[in-house]
Amino acid sequence: MKLWSGRFESETDKAADSFNSSLAFDKRLYRYDIEGSIAHCNMLGKCGIIPEAEAKLIVDALEIIRKDIDDGKLEIKDAEDIHSFVENELVSRIGAVGKKLHTGRSRNDQVCLDTRLYLRDASKDIISLIKALILRLTDISERNTETVMPAFTHLQKAQPTTLAHHFMAYAEMFSRDAERFAQAKNRIDVMPLGSGACTSTAYPIDRKAVADYLGFHAVTANSMDAVGDRDFVIDFLSAGAITMMHLSRFSEEIIIWSSDEYKYVELSDKFSTGSSIMPQKKNPDMNELLRGKTGRVYGALMNMLTVMKGIPLAYDKDMQEDKECVFDAYDTLKACLGIFTALLGDMTINKDKLRKSTDGGFTSATECADWLAAKGVPFRDAHSVIGQLVVYCIKNGKTLQTLSLDEYKKFGPFDESIFDAIKPENAIARRTATGGPSPSAIKAEISAMRKKLDTV
Ligand code: ARG
Repeated sequence: MKLWSGRFESETDKAADSFNSSLAFDKRLYRYDIEGSIAHCNMLGKCGIIPEAEAKLIVDALEIIRKDIDDGKLEIKDAEDIHSFVENELVSRIGAVGKKLHTGRSRNDQVCLDTRLYLRDASKDIISLIKALILRLTDISERNTETVMPAFTHLQKAQPTTLAHHFMAYAEMFSRDAERFAQAKNRIDVMPLGSGACTSTAYPIDRKAVADYLGFHAVTANSMDAVGDRDFVIDFLSAGAITMMHLSRFSEEIIIWSSDEYKYVELSDKFSTGSSIMPQKKNPDMNELLRGKTGRVYGALMNMLTVMKGIPLAYDKDMQEDKECVFDAYDTLKACLGIFTALLGDMTINKDKLRKSTDGGFTSATECADWLAAKGVPFRDAHSVIGQLVVYCIKNGKTLQTLSLDEYKKFGPFDESIFDAIKPENAIARRTATGGPSPSAIKAEISAMRKKLDTV
């Protein structure tokens, strides 16, 4: 039975019916829909809009319906959407009284409420998954504050750093992602019921009571805005898209690092796959999928930005398109964050390989230039001299570590202390400024990050 059939003289076309229906996907909102209806109905009873005894009857029936769905005794089917399904079921169970539930309410504010309730929980879930990932990164970093490796720029070796410094860079990115979800959640956490179809309702409702019952921190301030925007959905998707961008980028590095050319890390058998033809293969499929699935979440964001960009106020059915992309984005984020955290915990870090790699690529060249600058040579000149020194090394098959002091002396006022200065470990230890890789700076960063996590 359609909630709006009174106005119609003939049946909807079958194809139109199925085109219009959202039940196949919005059934996922059933718990939120029922929770919202219970809050609304309790309020109707308390405010004397319907008799309290009838309100109680409705609430009791709604609770049983929810339990029957939970237990698999009641299948969600044969309705236009989840709101119609619940109401039809209610009326079929308790008769005419059930028809009073929708007093002072529209599906327009109802669906907005359901979506906000859903996204409030979804944001909480994502925030705790991001936190778990960050904790894993701090644990790995704590064990690797002295694991020397090259820092790269342009994917060319740049300067020595540590694995902890590299991993904590990602921890910082993910902590901002968690903050973005927390901010999104704050804007989601506003109660829209009472906005009606678009101009609120003339019934003497108590919106604050509904908000308190459902644990919202505020009620929406304008009914047209409340039913007519989905920017809170876009906030969620936008935070999700940025998170996926970070996950994808980290995945890309792990893929590169686990290649034979690098061998910086080895993924465990548990998180790798093989080839059906090449017996030797161990592939980083999880990371490739993470990288690939990023497209889904970006797509969801673009989907909703596009849906919203040209629709007149207030409610338009276009907005029904928010659900599938939000569900998919949430599922994708949840799966990606979970698998990535697990995979990192099981990954072997080849410390020797990382250390050896630091010696190549003239990663100590900046140290040499700084050494000269400390002796009074203007840095720009020192830079140029060390550039020539690097060319000399390349032509003679040497490195800054294997050059003799006599060779150094041809290029400037070098003495024995240059050899200590260019040791990667020493270069790292000197970088004690906040944000730098020295073990002391990184330990401070790790503990600040752990503290920060408690506040998100
Ligand atoms: N299924 C709809 C949605 O998701 C619910 C609201 C329908 N309202 C309406 N007036 N047709 O947006």
